[in-house]
Amino acid sequence: MAAPAQQESREVKGDKQAKVDRLKEISNIAEKRGIFFPTAEIYGGKAGFYTYGHLGKLMKNRFENLWKGYFLEENFWEIEGNSILPSQVFEASGHLKNFNDPLTECKSCHFRFRADQFVEDSLKIKAEGLSIEDLDKLIRENKLKCPRCGGQLAKAEWFNMMFPITIGAAGSKDISYLSPETAQNPFLSFKREFEALRKKLPFGLAMIGKAFRNEISPRQLFFRLREFTQAEVQVFFDPEEIDSCPGWKKISSYKLLLQSAKDRKGDKVQEITCEDANKKLKLPKMYLYYMQKMQRFYLEELRVPKKDFRLYELSEEERAFYNKYHWDIYLNLEALGGFKEVAGLHYRGGHDLGAHEKQSQKELAVFLEEKKKKVLPHVLELSFGVDRNIFALLDIFFRSEKERNLFAFPPSIAPIEVGVFPLVSKDGLAEKAQTVNDELRKAGIRSFYDEDGSIGRRYRRVDEIGTPFAVTIDYDTMKDNTVTVRERDSMKQRRVKIAELAKSLK
Ligand code: GAP
Repeated sequence: MAAPAQQESREVKGDKQAKVDRLKEISNIAEKRGIFFPTAEIYGGKAGFYTYGHLGKLMKNRFENLWKGYFLEENFWEIEGNSILPSQVFEASGHLKNFNDPLTECKSCHFRFRADQFVEDSLKIKAEGLSIEDLDKLIRENKLKCPRCGGQLAKAEWFNMMFPITIGAAGSKDISYLSPETAQNPFLSFKREFEALRKKLPFGLAMIGKAFRNEISPRQLFFRLREFTQAEVQVFFDPEEIDSCPGWKKISSYKLLLQSAKDRKGDKVQEITCEDANKKLKLPKMYLYYMQKMQRFYLEELRVPKKDFRLYELSEEERAFYNKYHWDIYLNLEALGGFKEVAGLHYRGGHDLGAHEKQSQKELAVFLEEKKKKVLPHVLELSFGVDRNIFALLDIFFRSEKERNLFAFPPSIAPIEVGVFPLVSKDGLAEKAQTVNDELRKAGIRSFYDEDGSIGRRYRRVDEIGTPFAVTIDYDTMKDNTVTVRERDSMKQRRVKIAELAKSLK
């Protein structure tokens, strides 16, 4: 679950206005250039629903492919389950009982909103996680009124965040739910996959799919949505193996960037080796293996600057009761005012398989031939919100310079890698540029051709969509078969032979 909003909103940089402007600037570019925009805009849209435009979809594909290539290690597999699952699944998982947010309603104008967020915003105190009684007391004692019309507020009540739907002709007699996480599918598929995968542990089941949460007050644009994509891996293993890790020697001296629950006060982040985290913080080796793996994904694959990254521990009160260890990935998002959660590493123990075993009355413990014993596997979950990560990358790599706006994306996630431009579209330059573009695409480089407007405007356009390189075909090209390659961040230019262009760009 998400960490309390109060912790999420520690401001690291300057004034509120700058934050609002940055958010506005990013969303203006996103909407104008086809990265993301509100769904059903022509009908006024609905909060919490966004569409990926052509560039956003390219970027999302790239993120998901990078994620799969990186996390699907030996004996890790991808599955595709369903978004609609029967109610028994969520009775077992606890979502029907516990997946609730506190709701309050204005008695006059009937505006409904999240009681805890309202109390936090009004009183500037931490309110997430408070009981309904405590929230009501705070509202009464502080005489808080409807933020829309100033009317009296009704007593707060729990609101379940799942979307119920009816199936087939049975209608309301057969209620199912849109799944609020992809995680349930791997749990439901565990036994079959165990058999198919030669009855061995550990193994990982990953799923990238839609999740649905009926957020009462979706906020922060593209960051908190009602329909979003998750990329999750469930690692099933023998609980006795939690403190073992085959490649331990290779990772033991790797330094993690940690903010433990008790380090929050001074906003301290400690750099600590996996070895020390194992000995001093008592984090098991398998858990540490995935912590360093997740950290490296951000620092090395996505090239997030070290200063903008931290692994953030949830305290005992904040994490779900079954999560023995729970650290989230927090990234520093200037547009949202500080460090925010984008992913999590949850040690869910035997909770999920145990609960489904009980609910379904089907045995999910398995016999391990090699060890001659029966176990109910434990689960380590690596959970990422894809859309949140896309938004985070937009924010982290956004630069607003005097002459231009740009996204300084690394090529691995840039929606388009190269823009190919003829200096002018006459004298055979356009045809030559089209040939260069075709050749780059054949070489597996995602390039696109553009001849509209001045060359300066075309450079600004590709900067604004985070394209790392621009290739210009000019009159010299027609004489010596060389082109100009302009690098987005430094704006430096160099001459390259067409015959060497694809290799040089790669
Ligand atoms: N299976 C575990 C799970 O779902 P979670 O912390 O509730 O855990 C995991 O969600 C990730 O999903 C979060 O770190 C975040 O990136 C993303 N996420 C959660 N709620 C979201 C929302 N309303 N909109 C967008 N992303 C969300």
